[in-house]
Amino acid sequence: MSEEIVLKSEETAPVATISTLGKHEGQSVTLKGWLYNLRESGKLLFPIFRDGTGTVQGVAHVKSVPAEVFETLKGLTQESSVIVTGRVRADKRAPGGYELDVENIQVIQRVPESDPFPISLKEHGVEFLMEHRHLWVRTPRQSAILRIRAEIMRAAAEYFDQNGFIRTDPPILTPAACEGTSTLFPVDYFGDPAFLTQSGQLYIESTALALGKVYSFGPTFRAEKSKTRRHLTEFWMVEPEVAFCDLNDLMQLAENYLSHIVQSVVKNRAPELEVIGRDIEKLKAIVPPFPRLRYDEAAKMLNEAHAKGELEHAFEYGNDFGSPDETWLTKQFDKPVMVHRYPAAVKAFYMEPDPEDPTYALCLDVLAPEGYGEVIGGSQRVSSYDLLKSRIEAHNLPLESFQWYLDLRRYGSVPHAGFGMGIERVVAWVCGLDHVRETIPFARTLHRIYP
Ligand code: 4AD
Ligand code: MG
Repeated sequence: MSEEIVLKSEETAPVATISTLGKHEGQSVTLKGWLYNLRESGKLLFPIFRDGTGTVQGVAHVKSVPAEVFETLKGLTQESSVIVTGRVRADKRAPGGYELDVENIQVIQRVPESDPFPISLKEHGVEFLMEHRHLWVRTPRQSAILRIRAEIMRAAAEYFDQNGFIRTDPPILTPAACEGTSTLFPVDYFGDPAFLTQSGQLYIESTALALGKVYSFGPTFRAEKSKTRRHLTEFWMVEPEVAFCDLNDLMQLAENYLSHIVQSVVKNRAPELEVIGRDIEKLKAIVPPFPRLRYDEAAKMLNEAHAKGELEHAFEYGNDFGSPDETWLTKQFDKPVMVHRYPAAVKAFYMEPDPEDPTYALCLDVLAPEGYGEVIGGSQRVSSYDLLKSRIEAHNLPLESFQWYLDLRRYGSVPHAGFGMGIERVVAWVCGLDHVRETIPFARTLHRIYP
């Protein structure tokens, strides 16, 4: 199908990447990548190359390059793969600060005119782009988001690794629910029912009692029938769990943790934030301490907002916050807000009741600013055997599947706490995206499992 043009390449110039061109100013380098775009104006060609680390504009004048190089470049098609040699020249007007005076080019695979790259530089609808996600990821904005995601994941592990946490990986195939039975993905486990994990929490409670401070980091699954901009059916969660930890300690951990991640992105991914047009000042403000609100205080604020006409629906006390509620709440602060002590009735079976009033749970949701909403959910865990057993029964969960979990309260139970942070929610917020579908290489949602 494809036409191959292979030119002799001297390959004498050192191989460089676009992001590090500054180190080679005035020298010839070899870049390995793709043709992102080509502008032609008579005797001058302006190819834009990309190599995964960035883009750079090349310049080729008919008189300054060998005739066969000019001919090869002329009419070259978008996304053809190339090895290009050129001299690096500083140019203040260039987006990365450098341009490339093309000297030689070798085409590895020329995309044929008859079957061009489907994603042209014009606007496409999001459904078309999601259908071509395997190619969409090549475009500068999507690449920048994936680079920011990688930095968020790196920093998310780094914080724990540097602060005495041991990574322990929970299983993905599990016999029972952790976060409610309505969002389980069933799997046939050699004839027995099993489920894809909703959260590693229950298992890392066990390793926390073995190792003190632990974390897990992996894919988690929810058969969410919702089509919101915040929900995926497969997403990545990072979860710390700490022995001898109370809600107050947990809130401190959450604010230090989230700040570390956001500041790592500010420090290490500023060019990518610029590519996607994110206001970096808003991110620089994300430093501890974060505001803290009891659920009751948040409910009062929402009621007042409704009375003033700022919220369409009245907030029904005792419920979880709806999306519009979270959006309104987070817009009142320029940092994430930590909402704690929800009514126990709306929260998970494993949450420790507040000894001062057991109708409240010792739990925490961290809501990201600018309307992004919940990025972290966590709590202190029930430490009493009898209470936990009665909770499991009250939630109609199969007691036999939880015997091992109850053992943790039989043998040296201690107060312990932890939280889960959804990577895609954090990427959406840090990148300022409308929808989580762009935060992960291949999003899995209610209506999409292709490509
Ligand atoms: O609040 P959740 O359900 O809490 C738990 O799963 C606890 N077991 C975690 C723990 O305490 N160790 O989920 C935690 C976070 C949410 O705050 C959100 O960021 C993310 O996981 N999350 C989702 N992200 C994308 N799509 C979904 N369907 C998500 N459900 C939860
Ligand atoms: Mg939650």
